[in-house]
Amino acid sequence: MAPVTSLAASVHQRLADALSAALPEAAPADPLLRRSDRADFQANGILALAKKAKANPRELATQVVEKITNGDLLADVEVSGPGFLNVTVTDRAITETLAARAADGDRLGVPLKDKPGTTVIDYAQPNVAKEMHVGHLRSAVIGDALRQMLDFTGEKTIGRHHIGDWGTQFGMLIQYLIEHPGELSPETDTDGDQAMSNLNRVYKASRAVFDADEAFKERARKRVVALQSGDKETLDLWQRFVDESKVYFYSVFEKLDMEVRDEEIVGESAYNDLMPETARLLEESGVAVRSDGALVVFFDEIRGKDGEPVPLIVQKADGGFGYAASDLSAIRNRVVDLDATTLLYVVDVRQSLHFKMVFEAARRMGWLSDDVTAHNMGYGTVLGADGKPFKTRAGETVKLEDLLDEAVERATAVVREKAEKVGLTEAEIVENGRYVGIGAVKYADLSTSANRDYKFDLDQMVSLNGDTSVYLQYAYARIKSILRKAEGAAPAAHPEVGLAPAERALGLHLDTFGELLAEATAEYAPHKLAAYLYQLASLYTTFYDQCPVLKADTPAQVENRLFLCDLTARTLHQGMALLGIRTPERL
Ligand code: ARG
Repeated sequence: MAPVTSLAASVHQRLADALSAALPEAAPADPLLRRSDRADFQANGILALAKKAKANPRELATQVVEKITNGDLLADVEVSGPGFLNVTVTDRAITETLAARAADGDRLGVPLKDKPGTTVIDYAQPNVAKEMHVGHLRSAVIGDALRQMLDFTGEKTIGRHHIGDWGTQFGMLIQYLIEHPGELSPETDTDGDQAMSNLNRVYKASRAVFDADEAFKERARKRVVALQSGDKETLDLWQRFVDESKVYFYSVFEKLDMEVRDEEIVGESAYNDLMPETARLLEESGVAVRSDGALVVFFDEIRGKDGEPVPLIVQKADGGFGYAASDLSAIRNRVVDLDATTLLYVVDVRQSLHFKMVFEAARRMGWLSDDVTAHNMGYGTVLGADGKPFKTRAGETVKLEDLLDEAVERATAVVREKAEKVGLTEAEIVENGRYVGIGAVKYADLSTSANRDYKFDLDQMVSLNGDTSVYLQYAYARIKSILRKAEGAAPAAHPEVGLAPAERALGLHLDTFGELLAEATAEYAPHKLAAYLYQLASLYTTFYDQCPVLKADTPAQVENRLFLCDLTARTLHQGMALLGIRTPERL
């Protein structure tokens, strides 16, 4: 594995050295380099430095240029405007850097992070005995992408699917099952759809009895107590609900083409044993106080509409623990037992107040600190094409599976249209339809900044034009087809071959993959990776329009252009894979 220094980093270093030589008292000075349309890069840092040194910026810029050693890296450095530097790198440097990336397998020259830590990432957390909704989809898609991005940078990641598997509603469900034993089949279902429809039926039926029958309500309440005190029969039935739900969860995750590991499904109930101790520690340290019998944490800055402080309830007056106690215990477990340095939560922005309070309480306890931090990547709401929260015409929440099925159906139609020309078999059409449909859903979610709401608009998602995964997938497949057609010629870098402007633009963009990835990962911003890939595909399209590949002027130029095609394809493939999206070889 050989990480590659990007051209931007090399140029930056050259300029910084020259700046320090020209103005030693300013060292180490930042030339403030950025990509530019005029040249390859522009450095703007001299203006501020000249001002500080009370020097003339243009003169200082000229002195800096004199100190720069060009070598093989720089073709031209010129002073422009009041004291900017326009920097052009050589064609040779571009090709050589890209060749080093190409020689580095799947990592493409991207370095690993200096000091990797352990991130526990809490994502894809549906609720037992309940249908998943589009919000759960977002958490799964964003969480999975972030996790793969983090892994790629060398961070250790541990997944936690904090499923909603505890709470008073289980009293009602279990009591109903005791009174109507045939309602869930004795064996756990193996079919996800079937499992969910059984659970739905039990949920609705038990709810109806619960709302209508006071005596049942009372028996359900007693059942909650039995569950909490660990009564065997009650726990066994609870487990049935959990197992049946997991069958359903797995079927949805599989549809989403996403790996979920059983040992990482650690729901609210997993922290039950820790909760009394969590409460004791909070109370003993004075972070939590008793208020009307309940154990609560107050925050000066968090107040309700009436101006009264809103407390975080750790333990209710009746002794019961809830969502907050579970999350606080989970933090202890993740920090102490899993050695996490970062806790990342991918949860609906509507829970951000909950997390703000939980994190603050944990900070007061010292469980979180400057070294162990927590973030909630609160994501926005999924809207329908009409811009209103996504609902069916009847006003119900949309079933996730129906949505995914429809996306795959539409995508399959798109794939089928071109299938004959490409020569796809029926099996390939079906497989590609799935990758394109699921990719479309994921990409639409990932390409908007997570904290914003986004429109779930299938027409737009499977469109071949514009910022969609289909566009990127087709770009990839087109490149692969060119590479297949190049009989006799193989991709090979030829640093001596001059580059056309479109080749330079493509090459310089390919070279920034590692830096972009580091930035997108550090900011938990998969949309930046999506934007990078979209731009890559666009730059490739321009290159392809302007630069004949197989009919280039010389054999060396053919090979060099094939080399650019190949590296573009590999970068697209890797980038899409990090977003959880497949790139079929033929489309
Ligand atoms: N199951 C919850 C829901 O559907 C999300 C859990 C989020 N994670 C957590 N640690 N609280 O709303």
